[in-house]
Amino acid sequence: VSRPRVLSGIQPTADSFHLGNYLGAVRNWVTMQETHDAFYCVVDLHAITAGHEPEVLRRRVRVSAAQLLAVGLDPERCTLFVQSHVPEHPQLAWVLNCITGFGEASRMTQFKDKSARQGTERASVGLFTYPVLQAADILLYQADAVPVGEDQRQHLELTRDLAQRFNSLYGPTFTVPAPHIVRDTAKITDLQDPTAKMSKSASSPAGIIELLEEPAKSAKKIRSAVTDTGREIIFDPENKPGIANLLTIYAALTGRGIDNLVESYAGAGYGDLKKDLAEVVVEFVRPIQERTRTFLDDPAQLDKLLAIGAEKARGVSSATLRTAYDRIGF
Ligand code: ADP
Ligand code: NA
Repeated sequence: VSRPRVLSGIQPTADSFHLGNYLGAVRNWVTMQETHDAFYCVVDLHAITAGHEPEVLRRRVRVSAAQLLAVGLDPERCTLFVQSHVPEHPQLAWVLNCITGFGEASRMTQFKDKSARQGTERASVGLFTYPVLQAADILLYQADAVPVGEDQRQHLELTRDLAQRFNSLYGPTFTVPAPHIVRDTAKITDLQDPTAKMSKSASSPAGIIELLEEPAKSAKKIRSAVTDTGREIIFDPENKPGIANLLTIYAALTGRGIDNLVESYAGAGYGDLKKDLAEVVVEFVRPIQERTRTFLDDPAQLDKLLAIGAEKARGVSSATLRTAYDRIGF
């Protein structure tokens, strides 16, 4: 019985994933290995659209891959690869660029936001066509499903439009992927500003827990998390976003239900909750850090795993590209 195919990517744009990346995305990748034919990609081509430093990029690709393996991606159960190792991605992206309308691409809100921040004159054409490369990433693998958050919905819509357009212009070639809405993915908020999402672009490092930072530092951040002036530990994201976030993290990392946590902290103070959660976080990151280090300490083995991943990925992507090239007359 063939499993539905899924593709997902993550940018190597930081030296560590944060708890939001893990609980909101990567943890689900680990689960989907068991139910899907999963292709996971460290999208380094996407990481050069807004300027980068070569040595930093090189390091971050490796540390991203090592962390993905450390949290449980298993090369026997999924295909884990680096985007730039698979030349079919930019090759198909070019073809798709040629059937994407300029106006259509101009309507992508993520480009509008990012280019407004950089200055429209300075924003690269790569940033502009980023969603087209993303469409290529997905369509090359004939993915049935793509796990998406709200921020990626518009890009997935474009991917679906491009697949349908190509198919109707040149003949059936691509699977039209459906959004895979993941139930109970946690939305993690900033520890210092619990109404904003935890993000690597946070205004203060105290607001984010990095998987690879010194565990004592994480513990301190949890203990200093912004809460409210009340004292009751209840789950009320509207009025108590800080406490709600701590409970969400606690529940996600331990598998305990939020109700169960609330019950067990009846009568306890915020300090008790923070102290316990700090320990939970430390115990959680410790083995991940050890395994990440093991992968990074054996560069030849990491290279080998990524080469095997790229080979498996190319097995699918080269066949898709060949068909697409045939259809368009190459
Ligand atoms: P960042 O916001 O730090 O730049 P990215 O945009 O690179 O993170 O996101 C990588 C993945 O992690 C995406 O799938 C995104 O939805 C998920 N993610 C990022 N931040 C959070 C968060 N605070 N809570 C839940 N999921 C998150
Ligand atoms: Na982001």
